[in-house]
Amino acid sequence: MTETEETGVVAGTTDESAAPLLRVRGLVRHFPITKGLLKRQVGAVQAVDGIDFEVRPGETLGVVGESGCGKSTMGRLITRLDEPTGGTIEFEGRDITHLPPGKLRPMRRDVQMIFQDPYGSLNPRHTIGGIVGTPFRLQGVEPEGGLKKEVQRLLELVGLSPEHYNRYPHEFSGGQRQRIGIARALALKPKLVVADEPVSALDVSIQAQVVNLMDDLQDELGLTYVIIAHDLSVIRHVSDRIAVMYLGKIVELADRKSLYEAPMHPYTKALLSAVPVPDPKRRTQRDRILLKGDVPSPIDPPSGCRFRTRCWKATEVCATTEPPLVALRTGHEVACHHPENAPDGARDDEPAKTA
Ligand SMILES: Nc1ncnc2c1ncn2[C@@H]1O[C@H](COP(=O)(O)OP(=O)(O)OP(=O)(O)O)[C@@H](O)[C@H]1O
Ligand code: SF4
Ligand SMILES: [Mg+2]
Repeated sequence: MTETEETGVVAGTTDESAAPLLRVRGLVRHFPITKGLLKRQVGAVQAVDGIDFEVRPGETLGVVGESGCGKSTMGRLITRLDEPTGGTIEFEGRDITHLPPGKLRPMRRDVQMIFQDPYGSLNPRHTIGGIVGTPFRLQGVEPEGGLKKEVQRLLELVGLSPEHYNRYPHEFSGGQRQRIGIARALALKPKLVVADEPVSALDVSIQAQVVNLMDDLQDELGLTYVIIAHDLSVIRHVSDRIAVMYLGKIVELADRKSLYEAPMHPYTKALLSAVPVPDPKRRTQRDRILLKGDVPSPIDPPSGCRFRTRCWKATEVCATTEPPLVALRTGHEVACHHPENAPDGARDDEPAKTA
């Protein structure tokens, strides 16, 4: 548990020796592209293409990367809202990769998702009480003291008033709606909460409030989080570890401190350079790296390292050989032939003259 100098926000308590809550191995999700009446498969969107990671009980794992890199697909796979085309997912040591819907029901209580869009994810025709009470009805759970009382307790827990019970979603602001989404996700006391860009649709002034609420709830309820974001600014203070994704792959995975202080993947370095530094004295320390070009298509990703078309350190080997994700330091994994802040993995190769 650490406290940052800048915000005083305390990250979740992690037991590093405990068995992982979630273990993902070689996870793949390819969306087939079909053509013609016979729906012949002519290709695939490689949305998630072989990723490995673990989530430890009590921690917050932040997942970042540009639009389209596969973050939401990964979130939907680990909550089993979608089915992987390859690899395995274990929750509490149990293989849930291909569990049929009927057998997923107990796991649905333990794993919940918070969505990006606080407008679209709440049914406008249902009252707040109805929305937050839905998980109880779906799972056939009768809370002690009755449903209404429990829903009102949840509303208070997320900073809303019990009197909001009979109101409708349109009567609330974006931040309040996201609080309703959080109350619904927490109704059945889940173990793992996967939050897909929980604050990106909100006003910047509200974002910190909602993130801090999630952080407080984690301490109070012993939750484990996977929080997805497209940049590092929002989740940097609450993540214990951070996974950086690029075109369907994890390119770097490290605890927050080593990722910020000594990023090893050039892509991470570029992402970090875009995060505003609040302290003007430290502002000069980081030069802004502007990535050239767009993210390539996940239908036909570059050979070797997928980042090579935008990387200023790319060499021959980067085009021919895919760099595996390996630990170059304890708890710091990176997939790069010429990492930053570490000895070069392909020293006999001269850097290209481009960039
Ligand atoms: N159901 C689907 N069918 C076909 N392609 C899909 C489907 N869902 C996602 N994709 C594609 O998979 C890739 C990854 O999408 P995903 O939504 O996981 O990215 P993301 O990192 O969450 O992006 P964003 O930051 O925009 O939310 C994208 O190219 C997307 O177009
Ligand atoms: S493997 Fe090569 S192209 Fe990929 S990030 Fe490292 S240096 Fe850049
Ligand atoms: Mg997404």
